[in-house]
Order: sequence, then C-alpha cells, then structure tokens
Amino acid sequence: MSVKILGTGSYAPEKVLTNFDLEKMVDTSDEWIRTRTGIEERHVGAKDEAASDIALKACQRALEMSGVNADEIDLMVVATVSGDKPFPSTSCYIQRKLEAFNSVCFDIQAACSGFLFGLDVANSMMTFNPSYKKALVLGVEKITYLTDWTDRNTCVLFGDGSGAVVLERSDDDTSGLVSAKLACDGRYTEILVVPAGGSAKPIDEEVLKNREQFITMAGSEVFKLAVNMMVGACKEVLEKAGLKTTDIRWLIPHQANKRIIGAVGKRLNLTERNVFINVNKYGNTSAASIPIALDEIVRTGQIERGEYLLLTAFGAGLTWGASLIKW
Ligand code: UT7
Repeated sequence: MSVKILGTGSYAPEKVLTNFDLEKMVDTSDEWIRTRTGIEERHVGAKDEAASDIALKACQRALEMSGVNADEIDLMVVATVSGDKPFPSTSCYIQRKLEAFNSVCFDIQAACSGFLFGLDVANSMMTFNPSYKKALVLGVEKITYLTDWTDRNTCVLFGDGSGAVVLERSDDDTSGLVSAKLACDGRYTEILVVPAGGSAKPIDEEVLKNREQFITMAGSEVFKLAVNMMVGACKEVLEKAGLKTTDIRWLIPHQANKRIIGAVGKRLNLTERNVFINVNKYGNTSAASIPIALDEIVRTGQIERGEYLLLTAFGAGLTWGASLIKW
C-alpha cells in the first residue's frame, strides 16, 4: 500500500505588504531586504481573519482539486505556531468551518518544519490504521500577529498564508510518500523564540514593555545551522530510497531566505531548474511555506506523474527534516 497526494490547495490573505511599505515603518530598504533575503512582498491577514479562516480556503481548494467532499476526510493534521486560540486546537475550528465532522483532528507544533512533521504523522497513522483512508494535512500561519513591527531584524521576514494536501491510502504503490527524516535539537530553543505568552512567562505589563510577546531571532546563527541540517536530512532520505540528487525534479525547501535556499541547492549539486523559490512573493510563511510552494508547482503543471519531489525544512526548536515524494 501507499499514501498518495490526491490534490493541493493554497491561499494567502488579500493584503500585500511590499518592501517599500516597510521602508515607511522601520529603518530598512527594499535593496537590503531583496539582497539579504530575496523577499519582495508578503501577505498580511486582516484583523478579523483568524488562522482557521486562512486555512479554510486552502483546504477547500485542495478538496476541490481532489474531487473529495469534506465529510470523506477522516483525519486532519494542522501544523501551526499562530493558531486561533491557546485552546481548543485550530484544527477544531477548521473542522467546524469546513464541516469535516467525520475527521479526527489535531494540531502539531514544529514551527517552520511543521508541515513535514504533519505529513509523516498522517502517513504513519494511515499506514498502521486502515480506518484512516483520506486525510487533510496543512500548514497555516497568521504569524504576523507574532511579528514585532518595530524590529527591523524580524518584521521584514514573515508573511501569512496556508497550504494543504489531501492524502489517500491506496493499494497501488507506484507513487506516494516514499521516505522521511525528522529531527529536533532542544539545545537551540532560544535562538528563535517568542519569549512570553505561555506558562513559562505569562503576558504582564513587564512583558509588554519589553515586547517579549513577539518573535526574537539570532538570524545568522539560525542561517548557518539551517543549511547543514537541511542538506544532511536530504542526503539521508535520498540514501534510504537509493536515489541521487539527479533523480529529483524539484527540491522544495522551506521558503525563509533565498540565500539559504541557494546554499542548500548548491551543496546538493542542484541547479536553479530544480530548486523551487517563491519566497519573493510570500516571505517566510513558516509551516505554510512548503505546501504553498507545492501547490504552485502542481497548479502550473511543473510536475509529472512518476517524478520525485524532495521537501526540506528547518525551524524553531530547532526542528528540521526532509521528505521524499514520488508524484
Ligand atoms: O524559518 C526559520 C526562520 N529564520 C530564518 O529564516 C532566519 C535565517 N536567517 C536569515 O535569514 C538572515 O540571517 C537574516 C536575513 C535574518 C539576516 O541576514 P544576515 O546576512 O545574517 O545579516 P546580519 O544579521 O548579520 O545583519 C547584518 C546587518 C546588521 O547591522 P550591523 O550590526 O552589521 O551594523 C543588522 O542590524 O544588517 C542589519 N539589519 C538590517 N538592515 C536593514 C538587520 N535587519 C535589517 C533590515 N534592514 N531589515
């Protein structure tokens, strides 16, 4: 048997914030942002637009492409760090809005690697429990609510959006999810963190004064670790599958920074033709970046049945991983 991707969908909120808009907000420039990150613009959710609203549209598009009704979904795994509320899970809000009431649903939190963690969790559940036949796996972020719009080190980087896939358990094993490698290293928790707003440091006046309810990051440290971690994970999944990088049609790296993506591609001996980049249009959408990129590839007809996709991500935790898919 195998677990296959039947269809994909994505959505980003209407409001677009360009680098030129950011020039008016903090001491930065379009030139700095483009050359250091590759980002030109990002989408920002409206005040009354929750993560579940952003996710809903991506899910509806993925279901439509798959020809599957919401009530056929029996499993839904939602990767997010910027969910609707501390609890209940954002997946329950999405389930309600989508009317996917036959699904077991839950959130997972692995920051920007979340979608890859979600795929592996869903794949494992569907492999070992035949009652899970069709699943929705999605990454969604309204991460701009965690963005400190006065901090030029971070506010230029992030954007909101969602990407979703519909998975199906199948007896035919000629395509589907092939292999995955996930990893975590909690020794690096503090280099990319929202310091307050949880039980370790509830929000109080001191927190608000120090702006600790927002993302803080040691950018260049994350940069160096990210490249090595993603390259290592990619090599491991390829080796496990007995494939070489030349067998890959598309490397879809987490879209955080064009320079990081370029360095990973180079270390894997891949050319620009095989490394997908859309960070220029969305910025870093955390758990949503890989499924948004995947949806763009699928909808523009840039992948054919039988070709291989290699997905790789890194994020806060640190968490990282890679996933190999035969389309
Ligand atoms: O999904 C995981 C999330 N994390 C990431 O993806 C982050 C990975 N890291 C990066 O993408 C890069 O490290 C950054 C884009 C964040 C920064 O690029 P960098 O080449 O590592 O720059 P840097 O941190 O070494 O900073 C260089 C300079 C600093 O000025 P000084 O100290 O050299 O005078 C910063 O203050 O650039 C300055 N700077 C800016 N200047 C204009 C930082 N942000 C900005 C800005 N505009 N927005």
